[in-house]
Amino acid sequence: MESTDADVWPDELPPPRDELLRRVEGVEGLLSLLTDRVDDELLDAAGPQLKVVSNFAVGFDNIDVPACTRRGIPVGNTPGVLTETTADLAFALLMAAARRLPEGCDYVRAGQWKTWGPMLLLGQDVHGATLGIVGFGRIGREMARRAAGFSMRVLYYDVHPASAEDEASLGARRVEMDYLLAESDFVTLHTNLTPETRHLINSGALRRMKPTAILVNTSRGPVVDHDALFEALRGGVIAGAGLDVTDPEPLPADHPLVSLPNCLVVPHIASASVVTRGRMARMAADNLLTGLRGERLPTCVNPEVYG
Ligand code: DGY
Repeated sequence: MESTDADVWPDELPPPRDELLRRVEGVEGLLSLLTDRVDDELLDAAGPQLKVVSNFAVGFDNIDVPACTRRGIPVGNTPGVLTETTADLAFALLMAAARRLPEGCDYVRAGQWKTWGPMLLLGQDVHGATLGIVGFGRIGREMARRAAGFSMRVLYYDVHPASAEDEASLGARRVEMDYLLAESDFVTLHTNLTPETRHLINSGALRRMKPTAILVNTSRGPVVDHDALFEALRGGVIAGAGLDVTDPEPLPADHPLVSLPNCLVVPHIASASVVTRGRMARMAADNLLTGLRGERLPTCVNPEVYG
């Protein structure tokens, strides 16, 4: 059995920055969560013996990858194992927002259910609707597979077009972003957070969407301008939103978006199934231990460090 000495942060809340900077001093490997910012300051605090950074997530926008690369430090992530679990949650958010499930639950809990009503809590149909997928990587493609089961028309936008074979097998058509926004009944976001995708969904984008449309975000919070989203949801520019990720995280309970009945927010749990989190943990540990041995990481986001 392989082992190494480990200093494990035991609390639910992330280590305060000062504490983290102090405790990384002299370590050879770092297993980070997406709540830990790994940047020049932290890498300097760790010191030149640091051999590997292993992130317990597929996303790595918390890590300054070029800063790691400059120091020759490989960065690992956990792709693949969470793809379907994340798509499941995105589809659950889509359906829950479409059929107003949280409002229905609140209605029953509040003792307001007095009779069957022909106009009670009318929502949007999912079957036969148009799904717009922004970012057609692994998770975006799983959304297309799920949409096929609901006889949905699938449009996608991605700077990298899928192959003709993949488009055909997934029943998806690549379109321009504006067309996707205007045509889709549901827009689901699956992009990385980069300077280009920050606030990709701003007030202009929201105004291009249908007033009956629902926005789903399981990518990263800052891909959506939350002030613009609040105004759009309040003003009926779009019908609803389902958010697994927010800006900031955690979203305070008194944030205006939380007060809106047509905005469903869950606490960044898209990959949170028992099996998937176990697989992510094993993958992150594997990357860490491989890096400590000085071998090539199984899943490395900056393979250029290997020359
Ligand atoms: C990730 O892995 O990037 C998710 O956001 C958390 O599972």
